[in-house]
Amino acid sequence: MPTRSSLYLILLTSFTALTAAKNVTHITECPSLTPRCKPTNVNDLRADDIKVIGALGDSITTGFGIMGFDLSIPQLAAMENAKNEYRGLSYGIGGDKNAFTIPNYIEHYQPNITGFSKGAHPVQTCNPDNCNRTLSLLGNGGDGLNAALTGATSMHLGYELDYLIESMQNIQGIDFENDWKMINIQIGSNDMCGACNTSYVNEVTPEKYGGYIEAAIDRIHASVPNVIVNLISTFNVSQVFPLTEAYPNHCVNRNIDLCPCASVPGGLEIMSQLNNAYNEKLVQIYKKYQKSKFHNFTVVYQPIKFNIPAFPIDFFSTLDCFHPSLKGHEWVSKVIWNQLFLPQSYKPKSIDFDGNQTIYCPVDSDRINVH
Ligand SMILES: *[C@@H]1O[C@H](CO)[C@@H](O)[C@H](O)[C@H]1NC(C)=O
Ligand SMILES: *[C@@H]1O[C@H](CO)[C@@H](O)[C@H](O)[C@H]1NC(C)=O
Ligand SMILES: *[C@@H]1O[C@H](CO)[C@@H](O)[C@H](O)[C@H]1NC(C)=O
Ligand SMILES: *[C@@H]1O[C@H](CO)[C@@H](O)[C@H](O)[C@H]1NC(C)=O
Ligand SMILES: *[C@@H]1O[C@H](CO)[C@@H](O)[C@H](O)[C@H]1NC(C)=O
Ligand SMILES: *[C@@H]1O[C@H](CO)[C@@H](O)[C@H](O)[C@H]1NC(C)=O
Ligand SMILES: *[C@@H]1O[C@H](CO)[C@@H](O)[C@H](O)[C@H]1NC(C)=O
Repeated sequence: MPTRSSLYLILLTSFTALTAAKNVTHITECPSLTPRCKPTNVNDLRADDIKVIGALGDSITTGFGIMGFDLSIPQLAAMENAKNEYRGLSYGIGGDKNAFTIPNYIEHYQPNITGFSKGAHPVQTCNPDNCNRTLSLLGNGGDGLNAALTGATSMHLGYELDYLIESMQNIQGIDFENDWKMINIQIGSNDMCGACNTSYVNEVTPEKYGGYIEAAIDRIHASVPNVIVNLISTFNVSQVFPLTEAYPNHCVNRNIDLCPCASVPGGLEIMSQLNNAYNEKLVQIYKKYQKSKFHNFTVVYQPIKFNIPAFPIDFFSTLDCFHPSLKGHEWVSKVIWNQLFLPQSYKPKSIDFDGNQTIYCPVDSDRINVH
């Protein structure tokens, strides 16, 4: 028979589990949610309701270069490895065991989640003219529903969706019509960089960018039932180059050729203006879907106003000092996860890198916040 003090302890513990929101260092420390019936409205979703996850994007989402150079192995092999797409570690769609990624945080609440990408494979780069060809190579390994393509711009979202929608319809073990799904979209870095490529500049105007994003979201709405689109703002890429230039030891292999605007006079200013204009488009798109109230479809928006000039240099991969490292992806996964549960007006206006960043444990009353 429990003593009076142990009873008190049991009561106190369950009371705490019911009420206290917590921030933890590992998702496994988060209390589970109280089971409930499956919600019928997209405005009522908790983490445990998400059964399927997918992503559209570019080389950040493919996980290109995450591991940087491994100095403990021969240089040639290190170079080969460094150029992998580490899709299993990508912040928003990776599902490698114990990785700090959004699918793994969801999996803590919904063990049957599927669609995340696993493992790594050599990079398949696309450029403005051959993204479609690259797409046909996806899906052979652990790509899952990670439809991102290294090199893609917003113009290629249609090709990515060809893959994503067909793969989602065919993925094993889901109820395509009824299961709740989440699709992350983060794209725009290559668009900004492409503004200094004279033969591409007309494809990357804010109007074109917004149009491609809107077309992609409309197509998701028309062809994927029960889905929440998680639209993530662009990164202010122009701020990366002055920072990485200041750290020649970490950035031995700094590669600014990946971004045509990085080496053109006035290029950074052009990118900075496009960054603002793209994000304004994303906000407009988010607001448009806010007004149309569907029970089976919505768009949420995460403004990620990173304070890049103050980032530690190892946020960037030693591969090229352009793509995020593992440390970078891990941190981004936590920041975006934490934002999912905040109302729009509470999302941070400026986000500093925090090496001790914690993970928010949603409670029963939390919802993936739509407003
Ligand atoms: C968790 O972290 C958030 C953001 O840093 C903070 O606002 C909140 O107060 C923290 N909650 C707890 C219970 O510590
Ligand atoms: C996961 O799937 C299995 C097999 O379909 C099912 O028995 C189990 O209840 C599911 N778990 C959750 C948390 O939905
Ligand atoms: C893209 O590739 C797919 C599959 O290879 C093909 O069916 C489709 O026609 C191609 N689209 C374009 C615009 O080239
Ligand atoms: C510039 O754009 C053209 C036309 O789309 C493309 O073929 C080329 O690869 C681009 N160059 C760079 C450096 O991205
Ligand atoms: C979403 O629900 C509406 C009715 O509210 C229905 O007309 C539409 O077909 C549904 N969309 C999908 C993709 O199932
Ligand atoms: C983006 O970076 C530029 C510097 O390249 C800076 O002037 C601008 O304020 C930044 N924009 C935002 C929204 O932080
Ligand atoms: C984390 O916090 C501890 C103590 O609060 C501090 O000493 C340490 O420097 C922090 N680490 C990072 C990477 O910020």
